[in-house]
Amino acid sequence: MELVELRHGELFRQQLVRDLFLLYLCGNVTINFKRMKKFLKRTLIVLVSLLVLLAIAGFAGWKYLKATFLDFEDDYTENTDIRAVSVDGYTFLDRNGNGSLDIYEDDRRSIDERAEDLLSQMTVEEKIHLLKGSGMASGMGMVKPGEGIAGAVGTIVPTPRLGIPTVYLSDGPAGLRIQPSRKGEDRTYYCTAFPIGTLLSSTWNTDLVQEVGTAMGNEALEYGIDVILGPGANIHRHPLCGRNFEYYSEDPVLTGNIGAAMVNGIESNGVGTSVKHFVANNQETNRNFDDAIISERALREIYLKGFEIIVGKSQPWTIMSSYNKVNGTYTSQSRYLLTDILRNEWGFEGLVVSDWFGGRDAVAQISAGNDLLEPGTKKQWKALIKGREDGTLSMTDIDTSVKRILKLILGSRKMQNYKYGNNPDLKAHAAITRASASEGMVLLKNEQTLPIQGAKNVALFGVTSYDFIVGGTGSGDVNEAYVVSLEEGLKNAGFSINETAKNAFEKHKAANKEAFVRPEGLAAMTHPYNPPQMSYTADEVKGIAAAADIAVLTIGRNSGEGGDRVEADDFLLSQQENQMLNQVCQAFHEAGKQVVVVLNIGGVIETASWKDQPDAILLAWQGGQEGGNSVADILSGKVNPSGKLPMTFPVHLSDHASNANFPLDGEPFNMRAMLFGGEKAEKDKVRNKDYTRYEEGIYVGYRHFDKAGLEVSYPFGYGLSYTSFGYSNMQAVLENDTIKVAVAVQNTGNQAGKEVVEVYVSKPGSAVDRPVQELKAFGKTRNLAPGETENLVFEIPVSELRYWDEQHAGWKLETGVYTIKAGASSRDIRSSGDVETGDSGTLQ
Ligand code: BGC
Repeated sequence: MELVELRHGELFRQQLVRDLFLLYLCGNVTINFKRMKKFLKRTLIVLVSLLVLLAIAGFAGWKYLKATFLDFEDDYTENTDIRAVSVDGYTFLDRNGNGSLDIYEDDRRSIDERAEDLLSQMTVEEKIHLLKGSGMASGMGMVKPGEGIAGAVGTIVPTPRLGIPTVYLSDGPAGLRIQPSRKGEDRTYYCTAFPIGTLLSSTWNTDLVQEVGTAMGNEALEYGIDVILGPGANIHRHPLCGRNFEYYSEDPVLTGNIGAAMVNGIESNGVGTSVKHFVANNQETNRNFDDAIISERALREIYLKGFEIIVGKSQPWTIMSSYNKVNGTYTSQSRYLLTDILRNEWGFEGLVVSDWFGGRDAVAQISAGNDLLEPGTKKQWKALIKGREDGTLSMTDIDTSVKRILKLILGSRKMQNYKYGNNPDLKAHAAITRASASEGMVLLKNEQTLPIQGAKNVALFGVTSYDFIVGGTGSGDVNEAYVVSLEEGLKNAGFSINETAKNAFEKHKAANKEAFVRPEGLAAMTHPYNPPQMSYTADEVKGIAAAADIAVLTIGRNSGEGGDRVEADDFLLSQQENQMLNQVCQAFHEAGKQVVVVLNIGGVIETASWKDQPDAILLAWQGGQEGGNSVADILSGKVNPSGKLPMTFPVHLSDHASNANFPLDGEPFNMRAMLFGGEKAEKDKVRNKDYTRYEEGIYVGYRHFDKAGLEVSYPFGYGLSYTSFGYSNMQAVLENDTIKVAVAVQNTGNQAGKEVVEVYVSKPGSAVDRPVQELKAFGKTRNLAPGETENLVFEIPVSELRYWDEQHAGWKLETGVYTIKAGASSRDIRSSGDVETGDSGTLQ
């Protein structure tokens, strides 16, 4: 009993202690709860305030962005309520709704008359609205369902009062670039990814390029785009320029003729082009501010020349000024370039559009002859209004530019009320891209390896064999429906693909999942897709070599807008690639089998150190969406290669004269600098970034290698065929002011094929410092059957032999003897003859 009581007492005590402790705790909790409440309240207030602030800042930021860059033309929306009216038996669209026929509404009158009439009816405000686009909203796909064209990167603002419609501009140059899908719609709007510019120039076939242009322009027409922002006509000054793939060549004559063919093709559809980037946009590093310091001679003979030829042969609707400065002035603000040279000297009749956000001073741009500022910003609008008010922008300059814009609008299909069907023949265009791509691929080496005979088992090595690169990145990228990889192309051609090699790729891909995700949206514009290369073990390669009949090893490169390439792991093969090449060549050669290297690249790479190893090398470039089929067409022999190099492949990068003055560290794309950046103070400027001295002058590409007597890996104009050609009966005569050249080309081999003939001109014993030889004309035979001959003829105006005389600031002709040479490449001259320019040829 005592024990029980005791236990009870103890229990009671323990209970008491616990209760007291709980009470104490509760007291404390009460105290903390109060504090906590206060703390929570304060935190909540701070958080809510922050959120409100953030929302306000976000809203203000968004408003600012929208009002400044995206879409600020609230009152200038297209008037779509335009009725047809008949007056005196003539039916017309009564654009201003006044019930009577205005001159500008009358299609029977000339564009010039109509533009004049429109101009006279416009208010100053309406005119200024035309001088800049409506912002980036359209380019970023921010268009209301049923309105606009998602992805059209620029617009010419409509004038609703006069019933003038919106005009759409879009990239360029490897095919039309618009967004493939639209809000609220199930269907897609894919475009054809044609080969990159560099591949097209490698065809040396102007008819073919014109055909590609015609197909590309048709897609613009059928998708309602009025102007394609291309082709690109900058010179390959240095192999590492990140955008070389969009451009044609290191030579201006090839650039100009291929460019003109492209313009003529696109514009045959009644849509325009914008030849870009005028001029000397030869590096992407700090492209918005870099000052290209160039001698007048190099500017005239090299950098302007291609554009000059294009203007002369195709009179494009528009030309796009570049971002950079030339000799201290932004090109878009240079009256010298845009008015004195382009218009007054060359007779350009179209309009000049700025590159996107290019230039710094809107008034200076319009005054210089840069008629249209794209994509247009609110700041530019304000600056132009202010310029008009304070008199720095003259009414004459405004009217000159507006009239050019009106002429473009009046000449567009839009004004002809063309009903586009949104249904281009993508299938037919796929066939065109496939054929053009195979014609521009260059066979660099072939030791009795190609074409591959019989249905063989092919072992594919390297990532790009399976993940083929269609084209470069940035605005030159196209949204295509599909891509044919090399693997698929070979299968389509009847080859079987070695499974072990393929599985090695699949394993590699699975292990690097993230790196194989293609960037999308803005990231796709700014980040070249370059998944990691694979490694193989020696045994793995040996096993594959035992089972397969032949190896095809692909080296891929991808670069793009806003950044330049670098030497290590890009111009040069990476250590991994070298190892892969060694392993594959060794194992396959030991097994008595051959190795083909396919270069799926957009710009020049080093080849001299490794080209001895494989048995064949095909420079496939980036051949568009059918690329894999195009390569297979060559490997299988369905197509006989006939492409030739539009640039030199040097032994070393440093062999290029421009290497001393080029940014070599490959800075990536800097969007902020483009939108908000500014020029550095003079004292902070860095060589090759803020200014680049073109110290090599006219000695670009083969002009330098020939002059310096340097060995090259593959010379300008070089390319092999599965057949051979003989040149004979060359004639060169001077008739009036034209040199007429003829050469007979015979297919001396046993397969049908086409041959490119290059005509170079030298001035022996020249008193002037000039290149050893310069390309002045070129041509390509039709597909010649074995034994068949074609006589190619060329005409070279004597004026094309002139050089730019710095002293007298003009073109000058040296009289005397010139040697005219017909070559299969710049270093394989087959025939030559002399002509003498006497007084009859003295064009000054
Ligand atoms: C490029 C142009 C392009 C434009 C519109 C610029 O960044 O330099 O080539 O046409 O964007 O996309």
